[in-house]
Amino acid sequence: MGGDLRCVQLMTKSYLEAAIEIAQEAGKILREEFDRPPHIVYKGDADLVTQADKRSERAIVERLTKYFPDHAIAAEEGSGHESSSEFRWHVDPLDGTTNFAHGYPCFCVSIALEQSDALVAGVVYNPIDNELFTAARGEGARLNGKPIHVSKIETLATSLLCTGFPAHKRMASPNIHYYWDFTLRSHGVRRDGSAALDLASVAAGRFEAFWEFGLSRWDVAAGMLLVEEAGGKVTDFSGERYRLGGPMILATNGLIHDETQRIAFEISQRDPNSPLRREGVDID
Ligand code: IPD
Ligand code: CA
Ligand code: CA
Repeated sequence: MGGDLRCVQLMTKSYLEAAIEIAQEAGKILREEFDRPPHIVYKGDADLVTQADKRSERAIVERLTKYFPDHAIAAEEGSGHESSSEFRWHVDPLDGTTNFAHGYPCFCVSIALEQSDALVAGVVYNPIDNELFTAARGEGARLNGKPIHVSKIETLATSLLCTGFPAHKRMASPNIHYYWDFTLRSHGVRRDGSAALDLASVAAGRFEAFWEFGLSRWDVAAGMLLVEEAGGKVTDFSGERYRLGGPMILATNGLIHDETQRIAFEISQRDPNSPLRREGVDID
């Protein structure tokens, strides 16, 4: 191994270690807040923010700024900052706010580091199940320290999928058509309400694929690295490598990628206003 590469990997390791420490700290805050009545403010008609989002973000941004004062931070609730550094942290202090606010225990902290447009470290932490998903570029993905891999299922028909729906501009989302179609073509489609955990589940081989429209960078940055490092593939619906903040994401175990992408493309070509009926499909 060349000296330079080794040095980059050592640095990545310490970035990852910092992200793990900070995600666990934020997870403790979420755990604490989960036992209290939620304090909800509305960002849109179904777009919530709680005191937990804010407390968690404050703790993460404070600690990242202390450790890496030159780095830029993009954090969902707006407390990050710009910088001219090639390093940028993507922070979702609470992914799954709607679940959290309703007492449904499916949410996480998501923290990722990007260096000059390449993701180098990512952590997704579910503080309820104490599941810590971690990945560093070129080093694989892990769950609580043990290597994880995407599943080996080869067909869409025998796959379990997941997706999500946006909390804002809900009427503009075409996703219900994809949801309907993919449900009939697979073992089913889950809608768990946390994009970061959905991606982590693809990385861990629990789901074969995840897709969604209109996600933000902080929703997917850590999960995308997890899927890639676990041996999966992440693109848009035309097969181009997914770029953070792109209009749609498709993450799979790689084996069902072409098939899923082809179907997604087919659905996108239909008139979304026409009933999505196909011959042979009984929708009674
Ligand atoms: C949301 C979750 C959800 C997805 C939404 C996201 P938030 O993030 O990831 O699964 O469907 O599009 O906005 O608001 O809970 O951080
Ligand atoms: Ca989110
Ligand atoms: Ca959030």
